[in-house]
Amino acid sequence: RLKMATIGGGSSYTPELVEGLIKRYHELPVGELWLVDIPEGKEKLEIVGALAKRMVEKAGVPIEIHLTLDRRRALEGADFVTTQFRVGGLEARAKDERIPLKYGVIGQETNGPGGLFKGLRTIPVILDIIRDMEELCPDAWLINFTNPAGMVTEAVLRYTKQEKVVGLCNVPIGMRMGVAKLLGVDADRVHIDFAGLNHMVFGLHVYLDGVEVTEKVIDLVAHPDRSGVTMKNIVDLGWEPDFLKGLKVLPCPYHRYYYQTDKMLAEELEAAKTKGTRAEVVQQLEKELFELYKDPNLAIKPPQLEQRGGAYYSDAACSLISSIYNDKRDIQPVNTRNNGAIASIPPESAVEVNCVITKDGPKPIAVGDLPVAVRGLVQQIKSFERVAAEAAVTGDYQTALVAMTINPLVPSDTIAKQMLDEMLEAHKEHLPQF
Ligand code: NAD
Ligand code: G6P
Ligand code: MN
Ligand code: MN
Repeated sequence: RLKMATIGGGSSYTPELVEGLIKRYHELPVGELWLVDIPEGKEKLEIVGALAKRMVEKAGVPIEIHLTLDRRRALEGADFVTTQFRVGGLEARAKDERIPLKYGVIGQETNGPGGLFKGLRTIPVILDIIRDMEELCPDAWLINFTNPAGMVTEAVLRYTKQEKVVGLCNVPIGMRMGVAKLLGVDADRVHIDFAGLNHMVFGLHVYLDGVEVTEKVIDLVAHPDRSGVTMKNIVDLGWEPDFLKGLKVLPCPYHRYYYQTDKMLAEELEAAKTKGTRAEVVQQLEKELFELYKDPNLAIKPPQLEQRGGAYYSDAACSLISSIYNDKRDIQPVNTRNNGAIASIPPESAVEVNCVITKDGPKPIAVGDLPVAVRGLVQQIKSFERVAAEAAVTGDYQTALVAMTINPLVPSDTIAKQMLDEMLEAHKEHLPQF
């Protein structure tokens, strides 16, 4: 029986994870799930932990749920560690979203200046967790959800000896489900060849029952009356049909920030004045979710959780863990060391790509080079992630300024410096390295 530790256990997404473990108990016998949080998250941890206990009891599966603020105790002897924490909470996210808007720049938690600062806050904590893991559970796998998941995976691969690390995101699953809906078929009949980076992944080829339907899918996504493939947290503006048809690969929802920057910025500015930024909307959503979670009669994952952008992430987590544990050798898109799978990205860097999932971890499937039209952007974002990860580890101001300036969403060195200074000040309590 396995021991699993989940850091950031007070997350409103935890019931999904518990549901995923319950569904798979016959093939993935997790005997202990340790939900870890920090004192600020104690109340959330207790509410969601009580729901988790009711869920396993109702389902009749023998998973012990432990709640703790003692991370080291949770890590001791763990087989799998999942991370889903948010340093600074949604308040910090709201700053990542609002400050760039003052400078006419996209405010988003995983892209642009917001993504940089979420990385600067998160990476030191991840490195600290890995130091504990080396001591307390050296053979455990680290499955990281904490955003920016691509930059975090890059930092772990470059700056630690933790080889057993996988970064995960629900965007590929969301794209597959979106494509299946457009085609009017079950998602398990759709296969997509994914390659790129986290929140910068492309569907290179799409197959239905093994037959390539890429062009047909792109036509459907490009059709002006159709709702495209998106996530709950990203407004679906639709694409210029001739652009997508010319691109010939399927972009992910986050590509809107790069290919529709002006329109996305206008949407964000409008939202900031009216309903609030995404963090502010999520604060309200979270309040409603935790009110539901408190109901002692609730013993399942409530459907309202699907309003969060990360919906279905536990399916990704649990099927990944099960495939590692059972050496399933099925194909899943994850963030892992490139090892030559994508020709134009350094072999030692993290990429998001389809992999064969084995007991020794993900084995990336080679795709050769990315199409020339998207190759440059992917390389630029990889450079940004590398420089940002270096800044997060060293706390070097000039490195942070270079990261900010080379991000394609940032218009100039001077605006970069102004945003950097304001955000360093706003987030200083969570940036001990600066
Ligand atoms: P949240 O704000 O609910 O945070 C989860 C918990 O983390 C909170 O209870 C908080 O107290 C705790 N926490 C904060 N700092 C911590 C620390 N140092 N150690 C342990 N716990 C800590 O966040 P959320 O909306 O549930 O999202 C959690 C994280 O997962 C975020 O980083 C988010 O970006 C990410 N996420 C990623 C995906 C994906 O596709 N990769 C999907 C959903 C969420
Ligand atoms: C997407 C991304 C996640 C991100 C989430 C945000 O699904 O893949 O990485 O954390 O959306 O959702 P939220 O509801 O917090 O805006
Ligand atoms: Mn994601
Ligand atoms: Mn093709």
